[in-house]
Amino acid sequence: MQRLWKEPDEIKTFTEEEENISKERVQRMGKKGIIFDLDGVICHTDKYHYQAWKKLADKLGVYFDEVINNRLRGVSRMESLNIILEKCDRELTIQEKEACAEEKNEIYKELLKNMTTEDLSREVRETLEQLREKGLKLAIGSSSKNAGFILERIGLGDFFDTVSDGNNITFSKPDPEVFLKAAQFLNLQPEQCLVVEDAEAGLLAAKRGNMDCAGIGEGAESHLTTYKLCDFQELLSVIEK
Ligand code: BG6
Ligand code: MG
Repeated sequence: MQRLWKEPDEIKTFTEEEENISKERVQRMGKKGIIFDLDGVICHTDKYHYQAWKKLADKLGVYFDEVINNRLRGVSRMESLNIILEKCDRELTIQEKEACAEEKNEIYKELLKNMTTEDLSREVRETLEQLREKGLKLAIGSSSKNAGFILERIGLGDFFDTVSDGNNITFSKPDPEVFLKAAQFLNLQPEQCLVVEDAEAGLLAAKRGNMDCAGIGEGAESHLTTYKLCDFQELLSVIEK
């Protein structure tokens, strides 16, 4: 299958002067939409992913820790399982893998029931409302197939203009499909959208989709970010630049 995106090192690099001119143009043009990753950006489900994978790994007798868990951020459920199974001394059949992924998801979904509107911080909620007041279209771009359920739990079930998630994609981040679909659902060109991400896989997906990205949390440390956010509300000043 032909890929639709370019690797970051295939994208034309600009001189410092050209870079400033093009940044200035983008800033003057302004963004029309923002696509948010969900886990690690809008709310935090890492601990539940960890607990569910740990339970499964223990059952399989496979070593699993927080460092390995960190590698799972942004990638799909099955790819996460494949990373965990790197420490397994035998090859699992496809059927066994599917059963494992299903089992982990059942444990994870039970844990997600602990989430409430308290898991949405006031800072995130108020910033989202202010971005909307500025006329921006707001979307979710998440690899998770549980995005809808999580959004319901934290009280954002009807908030976003569109949700592009693990249910409408064939390829997971770092492929840009989830973000390109979100832009398409918003009726915007990729360049008109800003992606907000915490994971390396998601930042790379944004770059491959020709979108600027704001990195938050560990994502702010990455060289792939266009804007580094100290906190979520800093998005308001990024959008005004
Ligand atoms: C992403 C998480 O949002 O969703 C990943 O960062 C996770 O860690 C992926 O593997 C898939 O989630 P789910 O809910 O479909 O198992
Ligand atoms: Mg994330």
